[in-house]
Amino acid sequence: MPTEVVAIDGPSGAGKSTVARQLAQRLGFGFLDTGAMYRAITWLFLQAGCAPAECAAEPDQGHARMRACLQQSRLELQNGRVVLNGRDVTEHLRTREVESQVSAVSALSFVRAAMRDLQRAVAQAGPVVAEGRDMGSVVFPMARWKVYLDAAPSERARRRCQDFARQGREVSEALVLEEILVRDRLDSTRSDAPLRQAADAIYIDSTGLTTESVVAQLFARVRGDEVREAL
Ligand code: DC
Repeated sequence: MPTEVVAIDGPSGAGKSTVARQLAQRLGFGFLDTGAMYRAITWLFLQAGCAPAECAAEPDQGHARMRACLQQSRLELQNGRVVLNGRDVTEHLRTREVESQVSAVSALSFVRAAMRDLQRAVAQAGPVVAEGRDMGSVVFPMARWKVYLDAAPSERARRRCQDFARQGREVSEALVLEEILVRDRLDSTRSDAPLRQAADAIYIDSTGLTTESVVAQLFARVRGDEVREAL
């Protein structure tokens, strides 16, 4: 079980991706964006016409098709890009179509089991900063560093709107807030690996904090522990 892991969990829009990417860069660790993995599998199911909403009338058949699709797929993370069956799908992962289905896909136990194995394999290869919902609680219970990064829902909606605006998409903050609250509920009430703070994780509320200050705080903690251990 990998231990050289900074496990960062928290709800959507709390700033995990930006913090984790910058922290990984400063530490010289790999970066594992597990939300992108669930998004890629959701995109795959949408392409194959077997995403949960499309199979709602016949869930058993739908699950069989999703399992087959997953078994035949090869998901790779290469320098921050997500490559599915040899195709770079990174640009397709943050659409609202994917976002409308990703909570349902990530609630499926057979999807979670496959992603968990892949995530552990990545971390076996070297130290990583891994971000998601169940990094500290399920995938890397032995991680040396665990963080639960939170922010007020209104702040999270504001940040997501800024992301969308950068992509040239105008979406109302009220609508984004509504969608965030729905995803929070789905992600934290599912039976398999729900979003929750690991008992040994430190809690950071990033509302009103800059990315730099959160990264600096975590960097100091990790480097401090490493230095103490080397003494
Ligand atoms: O962090 P994100 O918004 O890219 O995550 C997309 C979805 O994937 C989110 O609704 C919850 C799910 N997810 C998960 O269930 N477990 C993870 N480790 C990461 C993401």
